[in-house]
Amino acid sequence: MQDKPFDVPETQPDGTPLKPITQVLLERRATNHFTDEAVPDEVLDAILKLGAQAPSGYNLQPWRFVVVRDAENRKRLQAAAFGQPKVAEAPVVIIALGMKEEWQARADEVFKEGAERGAGNPDAWQQAKDGALQFLNGMQQMDVWVNRHTMIALTTMMLVAEAYGFDTAPMEGFNPAAVKEAFDIPAEAEVVALLAIGRGASPEKAYPGRFPLERIVYSERYGEAWKE
Ligand SMILES: Cc1cc2nc3c(=O)[nH]c(=O)nc-3n(C[C@H](O)[C@H](O)[C@H](O)COP(=O)(O)O)c2cc1C
Repeated sequence: MQDKPFDVPETQPDGTPLKPITQVLLERRATNHFTDEAVPDEVLDAILKLGAQAPSGYNLQPWRFVVVRDAENRKRLQAAAFGQPKVAEAPVVIIALGMKEEWQARADEVFKEGAERGAGNPDAWQQAKDGALQFLNGMQQMDVWVNRHTMIALTTMMLVAEAYGFDTAPMEGFNPAAVKEAFDIPAEAEVVALLAIGRGASPEKAYPGRFPLERIVYSERYGEAWKE
């Protein structure tokens, strides 16, 4: 067991145990309406810190997050999100950004720190970094690359929020140019998604159903029936 890099609350704010992962995954719903109950700072801090532990290619962490809590700013974000009511209702909305270029300036730091922490060869971190840069410079679609990583971090935040008993709403319904303009976001950023966090207002949203595994999982090769 490695040292924990930081502490987070080990219970929900009212002292109830954190929800186990199976309950998180089965009870989570994309929530349409929120009450104005605040998300405590220590819970938000845990959501962000734990979300930032998500994996990324070469550990380059090409994500950035703008946390919007101010009511006026949530209204401005709502206007850039086709007026979706949950953006103004939820006490916290996270704008998830994927940075298509900025990771290059951090590559040295990432590879050096990994090697110093024992996660890479301390005598060869520069070669490892050169290999990564070669791979990534051949990447045609950096928007796809940043989306891939940023969604893992944002999804982790969504599930952590649920574990602390809060409700969430991931969103793709926004105008990226308008979001960028309203929040001073640099040109190289891809606005990947929004995530509203708070307490869902009743009535609870119903489970909309999912395809059974035989419709979406294949065995060994595409099209080969999956047998449980
Ligand atoms: C990336 C992503 C973007 C989404 N965008 C929106 C959105 O803009 N507005 C909305 O009302 N729901 C949005 N949803 C919610 C989905 O409609 C919802 O997750 C889906 O219908 C399944 O419902 P459930 O999450 O409650 O199981 C989005 C979900 C995801 C994962």
